[in-house]
Amino acid sequence: MSNILEVKDLNISFHTFAGEVQAIRGVNFDLKKGETLAIVGESGSGKSVTTKAIMRLLPPGNSEIKSGEILFDGKDLTKLNDRQMQKIRGKDISMIFQDPMTSLNPTMTVGKQIMEPLIKHQKLSKAEAQERVIELLKLVGIANPEARFKQYPHQFSGGMRQRVVIAIALACNPKVLIADEPTTALDVTIQAQILELMKDLQEKIDTSIIFITHDLGVVANVADRVAVMYGGKIVEIGTVDEVFYNPQHPYTWGLISSMPSLDAKDEDLYAIPGTPPNLLYPPKGDAFAPRNEYAMKIDLEQQPPMFKVSDSHYAATWLLHPDAPKVEPPAAVKKRMKKLPGSNK
Ligand SMILES: Nc1ncnc2c1ncn2[C@@H]1O[C@H](COP(=O)(O)OP(=O)(O)OP(=O)(O)O)[C@@H](O)[C@H]1O
Ligand SMILES: [Mg+2]
Repeated sequence: MSNILEVKDLNISFHTFAGEVQAIRGVNFDLKKGETLAIVGESGSGKSVTTKAIMRLLPPGNSEIKSGEILFDGKDLTKLNDRQMQKIRGKDISMIFQDPMTSLNPTMTVGKQIMEPLIKHQKLSKAEAQERVIELLKLVGIANPEARFKQYPHQFSGGMRQRVVIAIALACNPKVLIADEPTTALDVTIQAQILELMKDLQEKIDTSIIFITHDLGVVANVADRVAVMYGGKIVEIGTVDEVFYNPQHPYTWGLISSMPSLDAKDEDLYAIPGTPPNLLYPPKGDAFAPRNEYAMKIDLEQQPPMFKVSDSHYAATWLLHPDAPKVEPPAAVKKRMKKLPGSNK
């Protein structure tokens, strides 16, 4: 499968009063045509900054892409000027944010808001755009679209608003759709409906999706591949099966162990001890070392490279070095691995 997006050795810093925060430190990944890639990792690991860089939506005042390339259809997005980027944003690459209320304009009807990108990017006439909006509202599961067209966001429930945001994002048939925690602001039953919708859309449309989530539980359901981020780096990447059933990085083990389980009798929720690194002073070695009970001397001294586990599975942990002691994932992880949604092992 060919790649629609290639992120190569991306480094991004923020200049703050306290100094330079090295938020993204050598991120590499690609997105294949038609696939869904999930990005998971604790708060502050760099998920949003990575995707905002793709959209070129980083705050212009204090952020800096220090180095790297973001190749979309062969073009390096980091090199485009604002005008060139505006032609791509919302058309070829679009994004859904966490909170549907802040993404919508409260003073404009929902219909007009969905029409905007169609008129701007696709140069549709008003009548054509209106017709397409009705189609899009139906696609995202909004009943009575003709009447809904004329309503304002406050007349929609939270879940319905997120459907509208998704309709806007899909209006121009983007090649890449980025969804940054699209369900976290919604209550649990609505979350499930929006995820169901995303899955459904995936089958109907030919868009590649980057899906950011805290919730490992939904990953197995929506994604083809998973990238695990920690301290501004991808520490493990592979297919859903590889990362869930054959995880290699101790941080991934920690994430899997700390997944809430549906089993009510389950022991107390595990939390990874310690705190993420302060990226004002990135550590010399593996950023996870201070929290890693399997850390070796080299973890404190040198950053691990990405070791190859299979053609599609890579992990940055010294445990994969041929000379490292063989360490099995802890029992708690193995137990969880049997209980993952969709797991029949
Ligand atoms: N505008 C900013 N100024 C300074 N630092 C920033 C800014 N935006 C992000 N950062 C830093 O960049 C790092 C990565 O942040 P990012 O928002 O990508 O995390 P995240 O993985 O999306 O977390 P969350 O799950 O909480 O959304 C953090 O250390 C954060 O403090
Ligand atoms: Mg974020």
